[in-house]
Amino acid sequence: MSDFDVIIKGGVVVNASDTTRADIGIKDGRIVALAEALSGSATRTIDAAGRMVMPGGVDSHCHIAQPSSGGGQNAESWESGTRSAACGGTTTVIAFSSQEKGERIKPMVDAYHEKAKQACIDYSFHIIISEPSDAVVTDELPGLIESGLRSLKLFMTYPKNRVDDGEILRIFEVARRYGALVCVHAENHDAIMYMTEKLIGAGLGATKYHAWCKPALVEREACQRVIMLAELMDQPIQIFHVTCEEAAEEIRRAQHRGVKVFAETCPQYFVLTADDLEGDQRQGARVLCSPAPRSVPDQQALWRHINSGTIGNVTSDHAPYNIDAVDGKFWAGDNAPFNQIANGVPGLETRMPIVFSEGVVKGRIDPQQFVALTSTNAAKLFGVYPQKGTISIGADADICIWDAEKKVTITQEMLHHDTDYTPYEGMDVTGWPAVTLTRGKVVWEEGVESCEAGWGNFLAREPYDYIKPRGVFPTPFNPVSGEIEA
Ligand code: URP
Ligand code: ZN
Ligand code: ZN
Repeated sequence: MSDFDVIIKGGVVVNASDTTRADIGIKDGRIVALAEALSGSATRTIDAAGRMVMPGGVDSHCHIAQPSSGGGQNAESWESGTRSAACGGTTTVIAFSSQEKGERIKPMVDAYHEKAKQACIDYSFHIIISEPSDAVVTDELPGLIESGLRSLKLFMTYPKNRVDDGEILRIFEVARRYGALVCVHAENHDAIMYMTEKLIGAGLGATKYHAWCKPALVEREACQRVIMLAELMDQPIQIFHVTCEEAAEEIRRAQHRGVKVFAETCPQYFVLTADDLEGDQRQGARVLCSPAPRSVPDQQALWRHINSGTIGNVTSDHAPYNIDAVDGKFWAGDNAPFNQIANGVPGLETRMPIVFSEGVVKGRIDPQQFVALTSTNAAKLFGVYPQKGTISIGADADICIWDAEKKVTITQEMLHHDTDYTPYEGMDVTGWPAVTLTRGKVVWEEGVESCEAGWGNFLAREPYDYIKPRGVFPTPFNPVSGEIEA
């Protein structure tokens, strides 16, 4: 019998914290040896000379096989979504199980667990709460959080999902009591609805007006408001898909006060702008997502806020709707106005290449920051570290061997998702995953995919310190315990 199942030889191991020349020994799905020159036998040796060897990506915001709440069907199955993730270097996904208003949560989580059994890589879910009724808050959520679903998600906009400020406080209360992070889609709902009505009323239904109905200030206002509510409850939160200086500035100010507010952005906000929403509806729909793509100065602001630490991770917000399908982007008809086109872009597979190319190759970040942004920080924030997000002894052998020199023109044909387009068609990038391993199993190697549906395990997340509240309320009254604290 071999000493190791796999040895990865000759690569440069890049963690978020350090870079070392090391060989990696893998046994039973875990990293069991790291050495300058590893001796011992192995069933398989992979030559990584000249390549970076990094922890597999952790994509903590992606919508996979999620029942749609806004019209349009999610184009991805758990098999296709996680297959495309693996081909793009990602080895863990955290997707969503979503409550519709009036529904109970437990049956929906059970159904989602069932569907996710087809996953090719390890996974977990956030629970989307659209109606925090008494039954949901007292009967269902405590047990679900304790079952390892330690993150909740709320929408401040979208008619079918949005929760108001009072409901947000109820969600924060249950999250704080039982130990969960709350992730937030932060945009001012009433302002968006008002602007939408005015624009449509003026005959301005083209996709370019999607950006006009939700300018940066609606994101800033909602960020600022939800941060205040989180501060009132001493509840750690993460603001999803930050797109602009205005929102990032609110987050930074709160972080400087010591508030536990974390932030992510997404590749689409590095490379798309509101100009991409112009053209005919079909063209504009390919990039229509929320918040809307913004401007080149906003893209530059995002990199600044990454470098100063305001924004800690980059996720795909993979939200796939087909262009050529009656239940896709155009569920409301071919000439539907912007407010009736499904929101979201696919991006699980292109996330890491775009961040590497725009970030490392263009000199905005270094390779260790790349690992932090695409893997380690999300693993820490969502309670799967150090099982995921690091190359260290005992960690799962979720590894991405990176070809930093490879030049690729992104096309729909080369991707492995089930969505019928990519918003990045024709984009040139430098750097692409050469090999991906999930728990020691090679699933992507030099352009050949060998994923296995059902290989992925559910990651039940134990309580963890990273999201512990600070124990600081604005008054001596603790609204969660109902007690006055000394
Ligand atoms: O447009 C987007 N981002 N669609 C997916 C749902 C969400 O808002 O995250
Ligand atoms: Zn969102
Ligand atoms: Zn999303």
